[in-house]
Amino acid sequence: MPKLSRRNLILGGSAVLGVAALMSKPSDKSGPRDAYYLELQAALTKANIAQPTLVIDRARLNANIDTLVGHLPDGMGYRIVAKSLPSIGLIEHIRSRAATDRLMTFNLPMLSELSQTMPEASQLLGKPLPVRAAKTYFETLPVDAKRAAEQVQWLIDSNDRLQQYSELAEAQALTLQINIELDVGLHRGGFEPGAELQIALNQIAASEHLAFAGFMGYEPHIPALPTTLGWRDKALQGAWKTYQEALDQAAATFDAQTMASITRNAAGSPTYRYYEDTAIANEISAGSCLVKPTHFDSELLEPHLPASFIATPVIKSLPTTRMPGLEFADAAKQSWDPNYSKTVFIYGGHWLADPVDPPGLSYNSTFGRSSNQEMLNGGPDLDIAADEFVFFRPHQSEAVFLQFGDIAVYDDGEIVDMWPVFEASA
Ligand SMILES: Cc1ncc(COP(=O)(O)O)c(C=O)c1O
Repeated sequence: MPKLSRRNLILGGSAVLGVAALMSKPSDKSGPRDAYYLELQAALTKANIAQPTLVIDRARLNANIDTLVGHLPDGMGYRIVAKSLPSIGLIEHIRSRAATDRLMTFNLPMLSELSQTMPEASQLLGKPLPVRAAKTYFETLPVDAKRAAEQVQWLIDSNDRLQQYSELAEAQALTLQINIELDVGLHRGGFEPGAELQIALNQIAASEHLAFAGFMGYEPHIPALPTTLGWRDKALQGAWKTYQEALDQAAATFDAQTMASITRNAAGSPTYRYYEDTAIANEISAGSCLVKPTHFDSELLEPHLPASFIATPVIKSLPTTRMPGLEFADAAKQSWDPNYSKTVFIYGGHWLADPVDPPGLSYNSTFGRSSNQEMLNGGPDLDIAADEFVFFRPHQSEAVFLQFGDIAVYDDGEIVDMWPVFEASA
Protein backbone atom coordinates (compact mmCIF):
# COMPACT_ATOMS: atom_id res chain seq x y z
CA MET A 1 0.00 0.00 0.00
CA PRO A 2 1.43 3.42 -0.86
CA LYS A 3 2.00 5.61 2.12
CA LEU A 4 -0.34 8.62 2.17
CA SER A 5 2.12 11.41 2.82
CA ARG A 6 1.42 15.14 2.52
CA ARG A 7 3.65 15.15 -0.57
CA ASN A 8 1.63 12.34 -2.19
CA LEU A 9 -1.59 14.22 -1.50
CA ILE A 10 -0.23 17.35 -3.11
CA LEU A 11 1.09 15.45 -6.12
CA GLY A 12 -2.13 13.45 -6.38
CA GLY A 13 -4.19 16.64 -6.09
CA SER A 14 -2.29 18.40 -8.83
CA ALA A 15 -2.59 15.35 -11.06
CA VAL A 16 -6.37 15.47 -10.61
CA LEU A 17 -6.36 19.21 -11.32
CA GLY A 18 -4.18 18.59 -14.38
CA VAL A 19 -6.54 15.95 -15.71
CA ALA A 20 -9.53 18.24 -15.01
CA ALA A 21 -7.83 21.02 -16.97
CA LEU A 22 -7.18 18.59 -19.83
CA MET A 23 -10.78 17.45 -19.65
CA SER A 24 -12.37 20.84 -20.29
CA LYS A 25 -14.35 20.23 -23.46
CA PRO A 26 -13.41 22.52 -26.37
CA SER A 27 -16.17 24.83 -27.57
CA ASP A 28 -17.34 25.02 -31.17
CA LYS A 29 -15.55 27.88 -32.94
CA SER A 30 -17.25 27.62 -36.32
CA GLY A 31 -19.82 30.15 -37.47
CA PRO A 32 -20.88 32.42 -40.31
CA ARG A 33 -18.19 33.90 -42.55
CA ASP A 34 -17.06 37.49 -42.13
CA ALA A 35 -18.49 39.90 -44.75
CA TYR A 36 -15.01 41.40 -45.29
CA TYR A 37 -13.55 38.08 -46.42
CA LEU A 38 -16.59 37.30 -48.56
CA GLU A 39 -15.96 40.57 -50.43
CA LEU A 40 -12.29 39.67 -50.86
CA GLN A 41 -13.36 36.27 -52.15
CA ALA A 42 -15.76 37.83 -54.67
CA ALA A 43 -12.98 40.13 -55.94
CA LEU A 44 -10.52 37.23 -56.35
CA THR A 45 -13.10 35.15 -58.18
CA LYS A 46 -13.97 38.07 -60.47
CA ALA A 47 -10.26 38.51 -61.21
CA ASN A 48 -10.14 34.85 -62.22
CA ILE A 49 -7.58 34.01 -59.51
CA ALA A 50 -7.61 30.31 -58.65
CA GLN A 51 -4.33 29.65 -56.83
CA PRO A 52 -2.71 30.56 -53.50
CA THR A 53 -2.27 34.34 -53.60
CA LEU A 54 -0.91 37.03 -51.34
CA VAL A 55 -3.44 39.85 -51.15
CA ILE A 56 -2.83 43.38 -49.90
CA ASP A 57 -5.78 45.58 -49.03
CA ARG A 58 -4.74 48.97 -50.43
CA ALA A 59 -7.21 51.01 -48.37
CA ARG A 60 -5.92 49.41 -45.16
CA LEU A 61 -2.31 49.82 -46.32
CA ASN A 62 -3.01 53.52 -46.93
CA ALA A 63 -4.58 53.87 -43.49
CA ASN A 64 -1.46 52.27 -41.98
CA ILE A 65 0.86 54.60 -43.91
CA ASP A 66 -1.17 57.60 -42.73
CA THR A 67 -1.08 56.31 -39.14
CA LEU A 68 2.71 56.02 -39.29
CA VAL A 69 3.29 59.37 -40.99
CA GLY A 70 0.78 61.03 -38.65
CA HIS A 71 2.82 59.85 -35.67
CA LEU A 72 6.12 61.35 -36.87
CA PRO A 73 7.18 64.42 -34.94
CA ASP A 74 8.46 67.51 -36.81
CA GLY A 75 11.76 66.81 -38.54
CA MET A 76 11.55 63.02 -38.20
CA GLY A 77 12.24 61.15 -41.43
CA TYR A 78 10.74 57.81 -42.38
CA ARG A 79 12.83 55.01 -43.91
CA ILE A 80 10.96 52.15 -45.63
CA VAL A 81 12.20 48.70 -44.55
CA ALA A 82 12.38 47.08 -47.98
CA LYS A 83 12.82 43.50 -46.77
CA SER A 84 9.47 43.58 -44.96
CA LEU A 85 7.71 45.05 -48.01
CA PRO A 86 9.52 43.01 -50.68
CA SER A 87 7.98 44.31 -53.88
CA ILE A 88 8.93 47.28 -56.06
CA GLY A 89 5.26 48.15 -56.65
CA LEU A 90 4.54 48.09 -52.92
CA ILE A 91 7.59 50.19 -52.08
CA GLU A 92 6.78 52.68 -54.88
CA HIS A 93 3.27 53.05 -53.50
CA ILE A 94 4.51 53.65 -49.94
CA ARG A 95 7.24 56.03 -51.11
CA SER A 96 4.75 58.18 -52.89
CA ARG A 97 2.07 58.20 -50.18
CA ALA A 98 4.55 58.73 -47.33
CA ALA A 99 6.62 61.16 -49.43
CA THR A 100 9.93 59.57 -48.52
CA ASP A 101 13.06 58.76 -50.51
CA ARG A 102 14.70 56.64 -47.83
CA LEU A 103 14.98 52.87 -47.98
CA MET A 104 16.53 50.26 -45.71
CA THR A 105 17.98 47.39 -47.75
CA PHE A 106 19.18 43.97 -46.60
CA ASN A 107 20.87 41.98 -49.36
CA LEU A 108 22.76 42.37 -52.61
CA PRO A 109 19.96 41.49 -55.07
CA MET A 110 17.64 43.96 -53.33
CA LEU A 111 20.32 46.66 -53.23
CA SER A 112 21.06 46.23 -56.94
CA GLU A 113 17.43 46.13 -57.99
CA LEU A 114 16.48 49.20 -55.97
CA SER A 115 19.57 51.05 -57.27
CA GLN A 116 18.30 50.51 -60.79
CA THR A 117 14.60 51.17 -60.26
CA MET A 118 14.96 54.01 -57.74
CA PRO A 119 18.44 55.51 -58.35
CA GLU A 120 17.49 58.75 -56.59
CA ALA A 121 16.57 56.99 -53.31
CA SER A 122 18.87 56.81 -50.30
CA GLN A 123 19.62 53.24 -49.22
CA LEU A 124 20.88 52.36 -45.75
CA LEU A 125 21.99 48.75 -45.32
CA GLY A 126 20.00 47.17 -42.49
CA LYS A 127 22.71 44.58 -41.88
CA PRO A 128 26.43 44.68 -42.64
CA LEU A 129 27.21 42.92 -45.92
CA PRO A 130 30.43 40.97 -46.53
CA VAL A 131 32.80 43.29 -48.38
CA ARG A 132 32.80 40.89 -51.35
CA ALA A 133 29.08 41.60 -51.80
CA ALA A 134 29.82 45.33 -51.81
CA LYS A 135 32.57 44.75 -54.40
CA THR A 136 30.17 42.75 -56.60
CA TYR A 137 27.65 45.56 -56.27
CA PHE A 138 30.08 48.10 -57.72
CA GLU A 139 31.31 45.72 -60.41
CA THR A 140 27.83 44.79 -61.64
CA LEU A 141 25.96 48.09 -61.32
CA PRO A 142 24.93 49.40 -64.75
CA VAL A 143 26.51 52.73 -65.67
CA ASP A 144 23.20 54.59 -65.62
CA ALA A 145 22.63 53.54 -61.97
CA LYS A 146 26.02 54.84 -60.76
CA ARG A 147 24.46 57.82 -59.00
CA ALA A 148 22.49 55.34 -56.85
CA ALA A 149 25.77 54.03 -55.42
CA GLU A 150 26.56 57.48 -54.02
CA GLN A 151 23.34 57.32 -52.02
CA VAL A 152 24.19 54.04 -50.28
CA GLN A 153 25.15 54.04 -46.60
CA TRP A 154 27.19 50.91 -45.82
CA LEU A 155 26.52 49.53 -42.36
CA ILE A 156 29.68 48.73 -40.40
CA ASP A 157 29.66 46.71 -37.19
CA SER A 158 33.38 46.25 -36.41
CA ASN A 159 36.79 47.75 -37.05
CA ASP A 160 37.80 44.69 -39.09
CA ARG A 161 34.94 45.27 -41.47
CA LEU A 162 35.67 48.99 -41.58
CA GLN A 163 39.22 48.16 -42.66
CA GLN A 164 37.91 45.88 -45.44
CA TYR A 165 35.56 48.59 -46.73
CA SER A 166 38.36 51.14 -46.51
CA GLU A 167 40.56 48.93 -48.73
CA LEU A 168 37.69 48.42 -51.17
CA ALA A 169 37.08 52.18 -51.37
CA GLU A 170 40.76 52.86 -51.99
CA ALA A 171 41.11 50.11 -54.59
CA GLN A 172 38.07 51.35 -56.50
CA ALA A 173 38.88 55.06 -55.98
CA LEU A 174 35.50 55.59 -54.32
CA THR A 175 34.24 57.50 -51.32
CA LEU A 176 31.99 55.21 -49.29
CA GLN A 177 29.32 56.53 -46.93
CA ILE A 178 29.79 54.69 -43.64
CA ASN A 179 26.95 54.21 -41.18
CA ILE A 180 27.97 52.72 -37.84
CA GLU A 181 25.81 50.02 -36.26
CA LEU A 182 25.32 50.71 -32.55
CA ASP A 183 24.50 48.09 -29.97
CA VAL A 184 21.85 49.92 -27.94
CA GLY A 185 20.86 46.80 -25.99
CA LEU A 186 19.80 44.22 -28.60
CA HIS A 187 23.29 42.63 -28.47
CA ARG A 188 23.21 41.60 -32.12
CA GLY A 189 26.67 43.05 -32.64
CA GLY A 190 27.78 46.56 -33.49
CA PHE A 191 29.69 49.19 -31.52
CA GLU A 192 29.11 50.45 -28.01
CA PRO A 193 30.41 53.88 -27.02
CA GLY A 194 34.08 53.67 -26.03
CA ALA A 195 37.54 52.92 -27.35
CA GLU A 196 36.58 50.67 -30.32
CA LEU A 197 34.05 53.21 -31.53
CA GLN A 198 36.68 55.94 -31.26
CA ILE A 199 39.08 53.93 -33.42
CA ALA A 200 36.34 53.62 -36.07
CA LEU A 201 35.44 57.32 -35.93
CA ASN A 202 39.12 58.30 -36.17
CA GLN A 203 39.71 56.03 -39.13
CA ILE A 204 36.73 57.50 -40.99
CA ALA A 205 37.81 61.06 -40.12
CA ALA A 206 41.36 60.39 -41.37
CA SER A 207 40.34 58.63 -44.60
CA GLU A 208 39.93 60.31 -47.97
CA HIS A 209 37.80 57.39 -49.09
CA LEU A 210 35.36 57.13 -46.21
CA ALA A 211 32.68 59.59 -45.11
CA PHE A 212 30.80 59.51 -41.83
CA ALA A 213 27.12 59.06 -42.71
CA GLY A 214 25.68 58.38 -39.25
CA PHE A 215 24.50 55.73 -36.83
CA MET A 216 21.90 52.97 -36.79
CA GLY A 217 20.62 51.72 -33.39
CA TYR A 218 17.85 49.12 -33.50
CA GLU A 219 15.99 48.16 -30.30
CA PRO A 220 13.10 45.72 -31.06
CA HIS A 221 13.77 43.82 -27.82
CA ILE A 222 12.27 46.60 -25.72
CA PRO A 223 8.50 46.00 -26.10
CA ALA A 224 9.09 42.29 -25.39
CA LEU A 225 10.40 43.11 -21.90
CA PRO A 226 8.03 43.04 -18.91
CA THR A 227 6.79 46.37 -17.61
CA THR A 228 7.13 45.06 -14.04
CA LEU A 229 9.72 46.94 -12.01
CA GLY A 230 10.05 49.39 -14.89
CA TRP A 231 12.23 47.01 -16.94
CA ARG A 232 10.89 48.15 -20.26
CA ASP A 233 11.26 51.83 -19.48
CA LYS A 234 14.77 51.28 -18.15
CA ALA A 235 15.77 49.45 -21.34
CA LEU A 236 14.40 52.29 -23.47
CA GLN A 237 16.18 54.97 -21.43
CA GLY A 238 19.33 52.80 -21.53
CA ALA A 239 19.16 52.52 -25.33
CA TRP A 240 18.79 56.29 -25.70
CA LYS A 241 21.62 56.95 -23.25
CA THR A 242 23.92 54.66 -25.25
CA TYR A 243 22.88 56.37 -28.48
CA GLN A 244 23.50 59.82 -26.96
CA GLU A 245 26.98 58.80 -25.77
CA ALA A 246 27.85 57.61 -29.28
CA LEU A 247 26.58 60.91 -30.68
CA ASP A 248 28.72 62.83 -28.16
CA GLN A 249 31.77 60.85 -29.22
CA ALA A 250 31.07 61.58 -32.87
CA ALA A 251 30.51 65.28 -32.10
CA ALA A 252 33.97 65.40 -30.51
CA THR A 253 35.48 63.89 -33.68
CA PHE A 254 33.58 65.58 -36.53
CA ASP A 255 32.63 69.22 -37.14
CA ALA A 256 29.18 70.65 -36.46
CA GLN A 257 28.31 70.69 -40.16
CA THR A 258 28.91 66.93 -40.47
CA MET A 259 26.97 66.27 -37.29
CA ALA A 260 24.02 68.33 -38.54
CA SER A 261 23.84 66.29 -41.73
CA ILE A 262 24.24 62.72 -40.44
CA THR A 263 21.58 60.02 -40.41
CA ARG A 264 20.52 59.08 -36.86
CA ASN A 265 18.49 55.96 -37.60
CA ALA A 266 16.54 54.05 -34.96
CA ALA A 267 13.48 51.89 -34.42
CA GLY A 268 11.47 49.36 -36.35
CA SER A 269 7.75 48.60 -36.40
CA PRO A 270 7.62 47.38 -32.79
CA THR A 271 9.24 50.57 -31.45
CA TYR A 272 8.69 53.50 -33.81
CA ARG A 273 5.87 54.82 -31.66
CA TYR A 274 8.32 55.43 -28.78
CA TYR A 275 9.90 58.26 -30.81
CA GLU A 276 8.03 61.49 -30.13
CA ASP A 277 10.85 63.95 -30.83
CA THR A 278 14.16 64.07 -32.70
CA ALA A 279 16.46 64.40 -29.67
CA ILE A 280 18.12 61.04 -30.44
CA ALA A 281 16.93 59.77 -33.83
CA ASN A 282 16.19 61.95 -36.83
CA GLU A 283 14.61 59.08 -38.77
CA ILE A 284 12.77 55.88 -37.91
CA SER A 285 12.62 52.80 -40.07
CA ALA A 286 9.58 50.53 -40.27
CA GLY A 287 8.01 48.15 -42.73
CA SER A 288 5.97 45.33 -41.25
CA CYS A 289 3.47 47.56 -39.45
CA LEU A 290 2.19 48.76 -42.84
CA VAL A 291 0.93 45.26 -43.71
CA LYS A 292 0.71 43.99 -40.11
CA PRO A 293 1.36 40.25 -40.01
CA THR A 294 0.35 38.55 -36.73
CA HIS A 295 3.78 38.96 -35.08
CA PHE A 296 3.00 42.66 -35.00
CA ASP A 297 -0.28 42.34 -33.09
CA SER A 298 1.07 44.37 -30.18
CA GLU A 299 -0.44 46.98 -27.91
CA LEU A 300 1.74 49.75 -29.39
CA LEU A 301 0.67 48.85 -32.92
CA GLU A 302 -3.05 48.69 -32.17
CA PRO A 303 -3.78 51.65 -34.49
CA HIS A 304 -2.46 49.58 -37.43
CA LEU A 305 -4.79 47.27 -39.38
CA PRO A 306 -4.06 43.80 -40.78
CA ALA A 307 -3.60 44.56 -44.48
CA SER A 308 -2.11 41.35 -45.90
CA PHE A 309 -3.69 37.93 -46.34
CA ILE A 310 -3.03 34.64 -48.01
CA ALA A 311 -6.05 33.53 -50.00
CA THR A 312 -6.23 29.98 -51.25
CA PRO A 313 -8.98 27.94 -52.93
CA VAL A 314 -10.52 24.95 -51.23
CA ILE A 315 -9.81 21.85 -53.30
CA LYS A 316 -12.05 19.46 -51.35
CA SER A 317 -14.71 20.20 -48.74
CA LEU A 318 -15.73 17.10 -46.77
CA PRO A 319 -18.60 16.73 -44.26
CA THR A 320 -16.53 14.61 -41.83
CA THR A 321 -12.97 14.25 -40.58
CA ARG A 322 -11.36 10.85 -41.07
CA MET A 323 -7.90 9.92 -39.88
CA PRO A 324 -6.08 7.35 -42.01
CA GLY A 325 -5.73 4.10 -40.01
CA LEU A 326 -7.43 5.64 -36.95
CA GLU A 327 -11.01 5.69 -38.27
CA PHE A 328 -12.21 3.83 -35.15
CA ALA A 329 -11.45 6.94 -33.09
CA ASP A 330 -12.99 9.55 -35.43
CA ALA A 331 -16.48 9.63 -33.85
CA ALA A 332 -15.13 9.90 -30.29
CA LYS A 333 -12.69 12.65 -31.29
CA GLN A 334 -15.46 14.67 -32.99
CA SER A 335 -17.95 14.30 -30.18
CA TRP A 336 -15.26 15.48 -27.76
CA ASP A 337 -14.02 18.37 -29.94
CA PRO A 338 -16.63 19.73 -32.40
CA ASN A 339 -13.88 21.68 -34.19
CA TYR A 340 -12.82 18.42 -35.87
CA SER A 341 -16.28 17.83 -37.38
CA LYS A 342 -15.53 18.85 -40.96
CA THR A 343 -12.53 18.90 -43.27
CA VAL A 344 -11.21 20.99 -46.09
CA PHE A 345 -8.14 20.30 -48.17
CA ILE A 346 -6.72 23.53 -49.51
CA TYR A 347 -4.59 24.40 -52.53
CA GLY A 348 -1.05 24.52 -51.10
CA GLY A 349 -0.31 25.14 -47.45
CA HIS A 350 2.31 24.82 -44.75
CA TRP A 351 2.86 28.58 -44.67
CA LEU A 352 3.93 30.66 -41.69
CA ALA A 353 0.34 31.80 -41.26
CA ASP A 354 -2.87 31.29 -39.23
CA PRO A 355 -6.26 30.57 -40.83
CA VAL A 356 -8.70 33.42 -40.09
CA ASP A 357 -11.73 32.80 -42.27
CA PRO A 358 -14.00 30.83 -42.32
CA PRO A 359 -13.94 31.05 -38.50
CA GLY A 360 -12.76 28.14 -36.39
CA LEU A 361 -10.41 26.46 -38.89
CA SER A 362 -7.30 24.79 -37.49
CA TYR A 363 -4.44 22.59 -38.62
CA ASN A 364 -4.57 18.88 -37.81
CA SER A 365 -1.38 17.85 -36.01
CA THR A 366 -2.22 14.12 -36.34
CA PHE A 367 -2.69 14.32 -40.11
CA GLY A 368 0.31 16.67 -40.38
CA ARG A 369 1.19 19.68 -42.50
CA SER A 370 1.34 19.69 -46.30
CA SER A 371 2.63 22.17 -48.89
CA ASN A 372 0.57 20.46 -51.57
CA GLN A 373 -2.96 19.95 -50.13
CA GLU A 374 -3.09 20.89 -46.48
CA MET A 375 -5.85 19.57 -44.22
CA LEU A 376 -7.81 22.07 -42.13
CA ASN A 377 -10.63 21.14 -39.77
CA GLY A 378 -13.66 23.08 -38.65
CA GLY A 379 -16.82 22.85 -36.61
CA PRO A 380 -20.36 21.77 -37.62
CA ASP A 381 -21.19 25.26 -38.94
CA LEU A 382 -18.22 25.39 -41.30
CA ASP A 383 -19.77 26.40 -44.59
CA ILE A 384 -17.36 26.49 -47.52
CA ALA A 385 -17.48 24.73 -50.87
CA ALA A 386 -14.73 23.62 -53.24
CA ASP A 387 -13.23 26.59 -55.17
CA GLU A 388 -14.21 29.10 -52.48
CA PHE A 389 -11.32 30.76 -50.63
CA VAL A 390 -9.83 30.22 -47.20
CA PHE A 391 -7.97 33.26 -45.78
CA PHE A 392 -4.88 33.29 -43.58
CA ARG A 393 -2.91 36.01 -41.86
CA PRO A 394 0.86 35.60 -42.34
CA HIS A 395 3.03 35.58 -39.21
CA GLN A 396 5.64 37.77 -40.91
CA SER A 397 6.00 39.39 -44.31
CA GLU A 398 9.64 39.17 -45.38
CA ALA A 399 9.76 35.48 -46.38
CA VAL A 400 6.03 34.72 -46.70
CA PHE A 401 5.36 37.45 -49.29
CA LEU A 402 7.90 35.85 -51.62
CA GLN A 403 6.09 32.49 -51.85
CA PHE A 404 3.15 33.40 -54.09
CA GLY A 405 4.33 35.28 -57.16
CA ASP A 406 2.75 38.68 -57.82
CA ILE A 407 0.82 40.31 -54.96
CA ALA A 408 -2.87 40.90 -55.72
CA VAL A 409 -3.82 44.45 -54.75
CA TYR A 410 -7.39 44.71 -53.47
CA ASP A 411 -9.30 47.95 -53.27
CA ASP A 412 -12.98 48.68 -52.90
CA GLY A 413 -14.30 45.31 -54.04
CA GLU A 414 -11.82 44.76 -56.90
CA ILE A 415 -8.36 43.39 -57.57
CA VAL A 416 -6.91 46.57 -59.04
CA ASP A 417 -3.25 45.71 -59.60
CA MET A 418 -0.64 42.96 -59.42
CA TRP A 419 2.75 43.82 -57.85
CA PRO A 420 5.74 41.55 -58.64
CA VAL A 421 7.89 40.59 -55.63
CA PHE A 422 11.66 40.49 -55.16
CA GLU A 423 13.60 37.33 -55.91
CA ALA A 424 13.88 35.17 -52.78
CA SER A 425 17.16 35.90 -50.95
CA ALA A 426 18.13 35.99 -47.28
C1 LIG B 1 18.05 47.27 -38.68
C2 LIG B 1 16.57 47.12 -38.72
N1 LIG B 1 15.81 48.21 -38.60
C3 LIG B 1 14.48 48.13 -38.65
C4 LIG B 1 13.84 46.92 -38.83
C5 LIG B 1 12.36 46.92 -38.76
O1 LIG B 1 11.64 46.23 -39.71
P1 LIG B 1 10.09 46.04 -39.47
O2 LIG B 1 9.50 47.40 -39.31
O3 LIG B 1 9.62 45.37 -40.67
O4 LIG B 1 9.92 45.24 -38.23
C6 LIG B 1 14.60 45.76 -38.94
C7 LIG B 1 13.96 44.45 -39.09
O5 LIG B 1 14.56 43.40 -39.08
C8 LIG B 1 16.01 45.85 -38.88
O6 LIG B 1 16.80 44.76 -38.95
